[in-house]
Amino acid sequence: MTLPPSLIWRSDHLDLLDQRCLPQQEIRLKLRTPESVADAIRAMAVRGAPAIGLAGAWGLVLAARQGRELPEAASMLRASRPTAVNLAWALDRMLEASSSDPERLALVAGRLADEERERSERLVAHGVRLVPEGASVLHHCHTGAIATGAGVGTALGVIAAAHRQGRLRQAWLDETRPRLQGAALSAWELQQLGVPCTVLVDGASGLLMRQRRVDLVMVGCDRVADNGDVANKIGTYNLALVARAHGLPFYVCAPRSSIDTATASGGAIPIEERPAREITHWRDTAMAAPGARIWNPAFDITPAELVTGLITEDGVLRPPFPGGLGQALDRIGSTRACDQAGA
Ligand code: MRU
Repeated sequence: MTLPPSLIWRSDHLDLLDQRCLPQQEIRLKLRTPESVADAIRAMAVRGAPAIGLAGAWGLVLAARQGRELPEAASMLRASRPTAVNLAWALDRMLEASSSDPERLALVAGRLADEERERSERLVAHGVRLVPEGASVLHHCHTGAIATGAGVGTALGVIAAAHRQGRLRQAWLDETRPRLQGAALSAWELQQLGVPCTVLVDGASGLLMRQRRVDLVMVGCDRVADNGDVANKIGTYNLALVARAHGLPFYVCAPRSSIDTATASGGAIPIEERPAREITHWRDTAMAAPGARIWNPAFDITPAELVTGLITEDGVLRPPFPGGLGQALDRIGSTRACDQAGA
């Protein structure tokens, strides 16, 4: 079974899979303006850090088609969600092209999608080696093909690859409150791929680990700072703490498009706070006590010391990073260049 592509460029509009309707319905949106792309990002019709980045890139192509000022359109798109650095990264790459020609910009956006695809495939090849024979893997949020916009996903891609290689016992999927990315999207993707999986509420991970029913935790990320601190879906930090308490490895899949070496540490990463209604209601049904005060941070920061390894497309990096993650990336980047030259 193949998964539907989350983003398709149709020469005059962006054809976007509305992730809010999955898995019940596969509804596609036709986006013709940068504002409609920003709205789709804000409303989480498109979500997952790499997919948001690619949507932003196509948003700039739409702006160019309308003859708009690109830096202005980029600022508007950049503000739509603040935590995942992929959005800013992709918009910067588009602006670096120094062109307002929509055809030329469409080529650049297409290239970003190809790179994201290649990045996820290489990352998965490194990650799958960390999954021991017969392992059960716990996962948080959604990091599959739909969330990367192109390619095979990150942490969920590793889980699927481990299944194909016959080394996965099963995946445990955190439901992921309040938007249920785990129950709705990760479970659906793994079902399509025939990977055995079980959904649990986020708070059950402690019991699961205490009962020794899981061997490692693997998650994605929205931004990694230069000291290796990780911003990811709210609940990731709790998971990392519980994994450490039980002596279990905690891996973060981090394509380079999610690594922000310009931000020194996790404390400087902006944490998006989302509308109270995501907690008080499920779709149109009220669940919380009327008038209850709500705090709804969408992400948290996991300090680098709780991370066993960052799985990148160039290899696995293990904290601490005394000279910064940028330096560590340069080192593995040059090793890869040497490997290729010798190949
Ligand atoms: O708020 P979301 O659903 O966009 O959050 C998504 C996550 O936190 C993912 O884990 C992350 O973007 C990685 S996607 C490969």
